[in-house]
Amino acid sequence: MSFMVIQDLKVHYPVRGGIFNQVVDTIRAVDGISMEFESGKAYGLVGESGCGKSTTGRAIIGLEKITSGRVIYEGVNVTNKRTKRKSSFNRDVQMIFQDAHSSLNPRKRVRDIIAEPIQNFLKLSLKEEERKISELLEIVGMPEDAKYKYPHEFSGGQKQRLGIARAIATNPKLIIADEPVSALDLSVQAQILNFMKDIQREFGLSYLFISHDLGVVKHMCDYISIMYKGRFVESGTKNDIYNNPQHIYTKRLLSAIPQVTPIGRERRKRERIKIENYYQEQYKNYFDENERVLDLIPISNTHHVAATLPMQKGGI
Ligand SMILES: Nc1ncnc2c1ncn2[C@@H]1O[C@H](COP(=O)(O)OP(=O)(O)O)[C@@H](O)[C@H]1O
Ligand SMILES: [Mg+2]
Repeated sequence: MSFMVIQDLKVHYPVRGGIFNQVVDTIRAVDGISMEFESGKAYGLVGESGCGKSTTGRAIIGLEKITSGRVIYEGVNVTNKRTKRKSSFNRDVQMIFQDAHSSLNPRKRVRDIIAEPIQNFLKLSLKEEERKISELLEIVGMPEDAKYKYPHEFSGGQKQRLGIARAIATNPKLIIADEPVSALDLSVQAQILNFMKDIQREFGLSYLFISHDLGVVKHMCDYISIMYKGRFVESGTKNDIYNNPQHIYTKRLLSAIPQVTPIGRERRKRERIKIENYYQEQYKNYFDENERVLDLIPISNTHHVAATLPMQKGGI
C-alpha cells in the first residue's frame, strides 16, 4: 500500500522578456510525472543535470509551486500546502540537500539546529529534548560535544550527518535526499550512503533519492525512474532498469558508466563516436517533434517505458 501518490506533477516557469516584460516562453522543468511511495522503500530519481530532479523533490515537499497535478499524502491532498506548518505531512516528509553547509544555519549551534524540528513537531520537556538531541547525535555517529559547536567547525561528511540528524528528528516516513553525497570525497560518500541504508532499515524509512550518478542510485534504491526533460522515460525495479533497460535514453545513460576495461584511448574514442552516431540516428523514434518524451506504457507490473513513435524500434 502506498502512503503517498504523485499524480501528473508539473512545474512550469514563465520566461519573461521583450520591452513589456511579457511572458515569452515557458520552462517545463517538470512536465507530467507520477509516482507511488511505499513504506520502507527507496526510490531513485536519476538523469542528467537540468532534467528536473531537484524541482521534483522541492515541489513534492512544497518548496516549489506546483503548476498542475497533485500530491496526495495518506489520502489527503497536500499539493502546495507547505504553509500549514504543523501538519503531519510536514512532520513526516523531510529533506536533505547536497550542500549541507548552506542548509544548516551558520549562526546557530548544532543543538539548536536539531532542536528546531523537535520543538515544531514533538511535545517534549526541556530535559526530554536534551536527551533526544544527544540520542540523535549518537545515531549519526557524532560526539556529544558537537551540540555546542557551529556548523563551520565540521567537515563535509560530518555536516551531512548533522543534516541527517535534523531530518530524522521527527521520525519521518520519507526523506527526500537531493544529491546528498555529490559534494563529498568518494570514501566519505560510501560511509554516508551505507549509513543512510542502516537508518533506513532501522527506522523503516522511505527515500526519494535524487542523483545524477547511476552507480549511487543502484546501490541505494529499490525502484528507479529515469528522467529526461521533465518527464520519465522509464520506471521500474532496480532489476528492470539495470538488467532489462528498454528506452534508448536509459541505455545511453547506462553505457556512459565508466568502464574499467583497459582498452586504448583511441579505440574508446572511436567506439564512443560510433555509439553517439547510433543514438542520434535512433533518437527520432523515441521523442515527438518537440523532443518531448512520449507517455509511459506498462510492459510489466513494475516496469514502465515511454512509448516510441510508430516506426521501427531500435536496439543495440
Ligand atoms: N526558479 C526557476 N526559474 C526558472 N527556471 C528554473 C528554476 N528552477 C529550475 N529551473 C530550470 O528547470 C530545469 C530543471 O532544473 P533542476 O530541477 O534544478 O534540474 P536538476 O536537479 O535535474 O539538475 C532547468 O532547466 C533549470 O534551469
Ligand atoms: Mg539538482
